[in-house]
Amino acid sequence: MKKLAQVVLLFAAVLFSRVVHAQIADTEKYDEPYRLQVHFSPRAHWVNDPNGMVYFKHTYHLFFQYYPGGKNWGPMHWGHAVSTDLVHWQELPIALYPDSLGYIFSGSAVVDSNNTTGFGKDGIVPLVAIFTHHDPKGEQTGKDNFQNQSLAYSLDEGLTWTKYSCNPVLKNPGIRDFRDPKVCWFAPAKKWVMTLATKDKVTFYSSPDLKSWTKESEFGKKTGAHGGVWECPDMFKLTLDGKVYWILSVNMNPGGPNGGSATQYFIGQFNGTTFTPIDDKTRWLDYGPDEYAGVTWSNTGKRILFLGWMSNWSYAGQVPTNKWRNAMTSPRQLSLKNIDSNLLLCSNLVQEFDHIKQKEITIGSKVLAGQVMKGLPHQYLLKLRASMAHSFSVTFSNASNNQLVFGYNKSTNQYYVDRSRSGKIDFNPDFGKVSYAPRFSRASISDIKVLFDASSIEVFADKGLSTMTSVYFAGRPFDQLQISRQKGGVSVAKIIPLKSIWRQYAIK
Ligand code: FRU
Repeated sequence: MKKLAQVVLLFAAVLFSRVVHAQIADTEKYDEPYRLQVHFSPRAHWVNDPNGMVYFKHTYHLFFQYYPGGKNWGPMHWGHAVSTDLVHWQELPIALYPDSLGYIFSGSAVVDSNNTTGFGKDGIVPLVAIFTHHDPKGEQTGKDNFQNQSLAYSLDEGLTWTKYSCNPVLKNPGIRDFRDPKVCWFAPAKKWVMTLATKDKVTFYSSPDLKSWTKESEFGKKTGAHGGVWECPDMFKLTLDGKVYWILSVNMNPGGPNGGSATQYFIGQFNGTTFTPIDDKTRWLDYGPDEYAGVTWSNTGKRILFLGWMSNWSYAGQVPTNKWRNAMTSPRQLSLKNIDSNLLLCSNLVQEFDHIKQKEITIGSKVLAGQVMKGLPHQYLLKLRASMAHSFSVTFSNASNNQLVFGYNKSTNQYYVDRSRSGKIDFNPDFGKVSYAPRFSRASISDIKVLFDASSIEVFADKGLSTMTSVYFAGRPFDQLQISRQKGGVSVAKIIPLKSIWRQYAIK
């Protein structure tokens, strides 16, 4: 009897280890249903905002709001991933854990080249993270000052982090929403400037050493969209026709142009103390429902690189993935354009996507005339040239009759993404809604790029002037495409298959 029990135990142990091993191997392959193949998502568990994005020693760091205990939002940590080309990502151990001051909410990171903090030792340049400590107990007991700003630093190029012993460095004056510090170096005054989301406005602070902060000014109480709470602000410079502009971006939830979360921005000047907008228009960086909490990388010089969380607080906790939940958008390079005296941001896929391009497939005249094209790869770039004298649409579909439609409606002059029949949509009543983006360009032709992945579509129309990001959850991959038959419409279409970014890390 004893022998039999031993055999059974041994058998169970072997079986258990196989199951565990199979699960790990599976996760490492990044090939589960809906797993994005050309976007960053964590191996497992919950992710929201990108944090601490900084470029240092040929490496792009991406930290992110992360809950390693499950696939729902929970006590926030900073997860960590690195890339040398913005396209291939390697996930590293968690960088920051919650502590006695609270959860680690969103924030930024800078290269402290002049060692203003004094954290650098023996000539080592410190990386410094500035983040919000969110004290859940304070929140529960109804206090107003449970969000405070703190520091952590790294002396080994971002691998390990030490929290500053005198945290927090910027104490809450009694504002319940007091978070998401984004810091940049303001060279003319040799000081650090922080943009902080303070409920319904951005508050500017400055500091010589990242440790002591002085309030400079506030912006936005009466400007911009106010359908929700302001979160994750950012400020950076762009040049147009030889003139420098400061862009102040602010995320807001809810109240986005297509419901829920979205990123608005203002164009203006910043003098080290105050931000003065050129006008009081509300502009949106991405009209799709699934770009949120987007901010730019620090220390990339004149190249301004932006990345958002590819989800929406309306349903981020309900999307039907297993193991992990949510992901990041593609990284985009931002620029300014003048359209009929209206300045606008353009978002374009970073050129590093060329690294994963495969042999181009030209779409023939029969497909341009409406024939369904089958057997397509599961992740690709679709390039379209369309005459804007007519409406047109492109339908991505599978043999199960799920479909996702991207199109242009001439009568309203809007682009749209319709995911109402795209597969699983019933986890939230808002998910199936069609989303719309205005067309800003007046050109008669539009060059459009669509980045198509296993559960997301990103549209960059008119060279990035109208941008839309949407996720979808099809029953099986969309391997078919159909272009509407209207005369005129799409005249050139190419598909550029993309290699999965995960294969190099996958366990075979
Ligand atoms: C934005 C946000 C931030 C906050 C973080 C918490 O999505 O609400 O304001 O720091 O997420 O995870």
